[in-house]
Amino acid sequence: MTDRIVLAYSGGLDTSVAIGWIADATGAEVIAVAVDVGQGGEDLEVIRQRALDCGAVEAYVADARDEFAEEYCMPALKANALYHDKYPLVSALSRPVIVKHIAKAAREFGASTMAHGCTGKGNDQVRFEVGITSIAPELKCIAPVRDLALTRDKAIDYAEKHNLPIATTKKNPFSIDQNVWGRAVETGFLEDIWNAPTKDVYDYTDDPAFPPVPDEVLITFEKGIPVAIDGQKVTPLQAIEIMNQRAGAHGIGRIDIVEDRLVGIKSREIYEAPGAIALIEAHKELENVTLEREQARYKRRITDEWTELVYDGMWSSPLKDSLEAFIEDTQRYVSGEIRMQLHGGKAIVDGRKSDTGLYDFNLATYDEGDTFDQSAARGFIEIYGLAAKQAAARQARLGY
Ligand code: ARG
Repeated sequence: MTDRIVLAYSGGLDTSVAIGWIADATGAEVIAVAVDVGQGGEDLEVIRQRALDCGAVEAYVADARDEFAEEYCMPALKANALYHDKYPLVSALSRPVIVKHIAKAAREFGASTMAHGCTGKGNDQVRFEVGITSIAPELKCIAPVRDLALTRDKAIDYAEKHNLPIATTKKNPFSIDQNVWGRAVETGFLEDIWNAPTKDVYDYTDDPAFPPVPDEVLITFEKGIPVAIDGQKVTPLQAIEIMNQRAGAHGIGRIDIVEDRLVGIKSREIYEAPGAIALIEAHKELENVTLEREQARYKRRITDEWTELVYDGMWSSPLKDSLEAFIEDTQRYVSGEIRMQLHGGKAIVDGRKSDTGLYDFNLATYDEGDTFDQSAARGFIEIYGLAAKQAAARQARLGY
């Protein structure tokens, strides 16, 4: 039987050419699988047909939008996951769900190998291949761009020579990866890290310098998950989509960073994640109301670990699962409502309500009738500061 290879297909030039390129180089049949993670853009049926026209023996589209929102974006929201304190893991979250569908397709079609269109310099090759190793260790991996010398120029020549139904003239200087959780843009003039992004870099967000009138939004959470917006019930996918629109209109979630890749390279990325950033902001503030102090402090450390594992392609690692069990447990009382003002590039919380919170008005108030016994503070401070006091006295005595 002819060998079969499942290709993670985007519909773009590189993976379209890769279909024939892989077949020529290996003699295998290529099955193209496109995974819908809410990237928008071209109709996926058009993409499916293109794969067949480019020589795939089978092509299909997996609708993973709800799954991606529920099982990948929501854990990231519960964690408040921001790599380098800024990047909400857009691409890092989508690779594992793509891997899952590729592995499923490989089993269905009896393929021995999976292929992806990543270069040898990025994180995504690692996420794909470590992901496959973890959930379908029987599959081999190849990367035509990296392993079969498929350069951009060769791809253009190949597409033109074989008359492939894919534009080769459209000059997009950027490498873009997008899904419902956000959008990543790199390369081109952005590689000079002194160059500011131009307007055409952005797509999910409008210019925050010219904001419409402020937009007030109420987000209801249940155990860390957004379940209603302005009182209307929503699924996780709908919550992200609605917030992408509303926060995007105010230019919220534009990020410009130099980040540390797993492979050791520093790279410059522009991200837009209006929904993710607004939801994380709201979720964080609800946690401020509902998490116990030590638990909240500890969770930040767990979040950093979780975020780095996910960024580093370890979605299926046992450590990530264990950390997630902790995070999940912290979300037990993270229920309530957050009011935010979306305006001028910022999502600012200005109201919170929770029946499961720890904020106690009678303890906090400086008005008459508080229930806090202030006289107890003296003894507390005496003991709390004792070690520091002893150390200071020693220093005064010894002088060094
Ligand atoms: N640097 C980001 C990450 O590793 C995004 C990678 C994909 N970016 C791109 N523009 N193609 O998660």
